[in-house]
Amino acid sequence: MSINNIGIIGSGAIGQEIARLALAAGLSVAISNSRGPESLSDLIKNLGSNAHAATATEAAEFGDIIVLAIPLSAYAQLPTQALAGKTVLSTGNYYPARDGRIEILDSLKSTTAELETALLPDASIVKAFNNIVAHHIPLLAHSTPKTALPVFGDDQATKAEVLELIRTLGFDTVDAGNLADSWRTEPESGGYTLTYAADRAGFAADYLADRGQPVTFAQLEAVLLGSQRADVAARQF
Ligand SMILES: NC(=O)c1ccc[n+]([C@@H]2O[C@H](COP(=O)([O-])OP(=O)(O)OC[C@H]3O[C@@H](n4cnc5c(N)ncnc54)[C@H](OP(=O)(O)O)[C@@H]3O)[C@@H](O)[C@H]2O)c1
Repeated sequence: MSINNIGIIGSGAIGQEIARLALAAGLSVAISNSRGPESLSDLIKNLGSNAHAATATEAAEFGDIIVLAIPLSAYAQLPTQALAGKTVLSTGNYYPARDGRIEILDSLKSTTAELETALLPDASIVKAFNNIVAHHIPLLAHSTPKTALPVFGDDQATKAEVLELIRTLGFDTVDAGNLADSWRTEPESGGYTLTYAADRAGFAADYLADRGQPVTFAQLEAVLLGSQRADVAARQF
C-alpha cells in the first residue's frame, strides 16, 4: 500500500509533532480534536496547505494510516465504523490520574494496546510513539546516528505499513513484537521515555529541559530486552 494520507485524531502535543513530520515528508494530513474543525484554524495556518482540519470521522476516512493521539479515556468515543479495516498507529498511554483506574490494566491481564484492540476490534492497532516525549520527536527525527523507535503489532502487514511510515518520518525502527509485548514501553517500564533522555537525572527533575539523545537500533533492542514490567496498580500518575 502506498502511504500518502495521514489522518490524525488528537491535535495536542503528540498529534502536532507527528503532523509536522508527516508534512515535512511530503504527506497530506487531516487533523482533528474534540472541539471540532473550526477550533483548528490557527494550527492549520501554521501547518500549511497540505494539512486540513477535520472531524475525527473525516480524519479516519481520509487516512491511509490513522494516528491516535488522544487520552486513553477518549478511545470509547472514537468513530468505530470509520476506523473499521484501518491501520491505526496508537500513541496512547494509560495514566490512572487522568484516565481513572482500569482493573484489567492494573491487574496486568492486558497491555494498554490489547485493551485498545478490544475497544476497536475492527481496526488493526499498532503501538508506537508512546515511549517518547513530544518535544523529543522533532529533536530526534533525522538524527545522526538514526534514532530507533519500537513498534508493536499483531498483524504483520499493518505493522509493516507503520514501520515504513515511521522510517519516512525520519526514525529507524525496531519491530518489538506483538501487542502483548508492549508492556516493555509502557509508563514506568524500562523502555519508557527516559530511554531518549540526554541527562537521566536532569530528565527526572525537568524533562522539558532535556534535549534528547539518539538511541540506535542496537541500543534500543538492548533497552527493550532489559525492560521490567511496571507495577501498574502501584502507579500514581
Ligand atoms: N505528551 C507526551 O509527551 C506523550 C508522550 C507519549 C505518549 N503520550 C500519549 O499520547 C496521547 C496524546 O498525548 P498528548 O500529550 O498529545 O495529549 P494532549 O496534548 O492532551 O492532546 C490530546 C488531544 O486529544 C484530543 N481529544 C480528546 N478527546 C478526543 C476525542 N474524543 N476525539 C478527538 N480528539 C480528542 C484533544 O482535543 P482538544 O484539543 O479539543 O481538547 C487534544 O487535541 C495520550 O494518550 C498520551 O498519554 C503523550
